[in-house]
Amino acid sequence: MSTTRTPTETQTVNLAILGYGKMGRMIAQLSEQRGCRVRLAMDIDVNEGGSGITPENFREVDVCIDFTTPEAAVTNIERVAAVGCNLVVGTTGWQSELPRVRKIIEKAGVGMVHAANFSIGMQLFYRLTRLAAEVFSQFPQYDPFLTERHHQFKKDAPSGTAIALGKMVGEQYTGREFSIPAVRAGFFPGAHEVGFDSEADTIELRHTARSRQGFAEGALYAARWVAGKKGLFEFSEILPGKENHHVGSS
Ligand SMILES: NC(=O)c1ccc[n+]([C@@H]2O[C@H](COP(=O)([O-])OP(=O)(O)OC[C@H]3O[C@@H](n4cnc5c(N)ncnc54)[C@H](OP(=O)(O)O)[C@@H]3O)[C@@H](O)[C@H]2O)c1
Repeated sequence: MSTTRTPTETQTVNLAILGYGKMGRMIAQLSEQRGCRVRLAMDIDVNEGGSGITPENFREVDVCIDFTTPEAAVTNIERVAAVGCNLVVGTTGWQSELPRVRKIIEKAGVGMVHAANFSIGMQLFYRLTRLAAEVFSQFPQYDPFLTERHHQFKKDAPSGTAIALGKMVGEQYTGREFSIPAVRAGFFPGAHEVGFDSEADTIELRHTARSRQGFAEGALYAARWVAGKKGLFEFSEILPGKENHHVGSS
């Protein structure tokens, strides 16, 4: 295991991938072009209950990327932290356990980046959403709304991203509950819409993922960033210009 290794800008980051489904495969495909090498990829057949996460298997791994299921993620995090390896966690649907995960990461002295959405475009969309909510909430004639749609196989609904967007809008509309209609059909990689409607007009902001590539790119960016670091980070915190969403506010 090589927790303390901090790869230089030009050094390859050695990866373990947990969950060799749609995202795991896309990350593996892109990894060489993004300065990473996959040392180990485990699906449920070899990692039931986290059983494949052993010091021996993780000896040459700098960062472990988890895109599994809500049921598997926290056990995986616990076991990966226990072998002293840093993490990038893209799995959604486990975030109610974040306080426990924070303790696990701090106690183990490892680093972890997590996000409901690893697309850099979506992270910029978050910033626009916060700004839009700040602006429109000052005009009571505009009513905010959110919608999302994903492929028929997605297990959680509404998506973690939609919940995050709802919280951002909600910060400006205290006490207001948002229902988030979630379409599950076909093969949509993911679309999220935030809008403001009045009697006179509608303003809509929409993010549409064209493929899973954007998520994989962000996860690999996070893997390079977290190698050799300690602490728990949300993806938005590690991207440049994170203060920009305050532009225009005093
Ligand atoms: N944060 C983001 O940007 C982002 C983007 C896309 C997706 N996601 C999330 O990432 C997760 C995976 O998405 P996906 O589209 O790749 O799903 P997927 O194609 O269903 O892949 C998940 C894989 O994980 C496997 N798995 C389950 N338990 C495991 C364990 N304990 N150890 C290792 N592998 C295990 C599953 O095996 P079985 O099928 O045999 O159970 C499956 O092959 C979901 O939670 C999804 O919502 C997040």
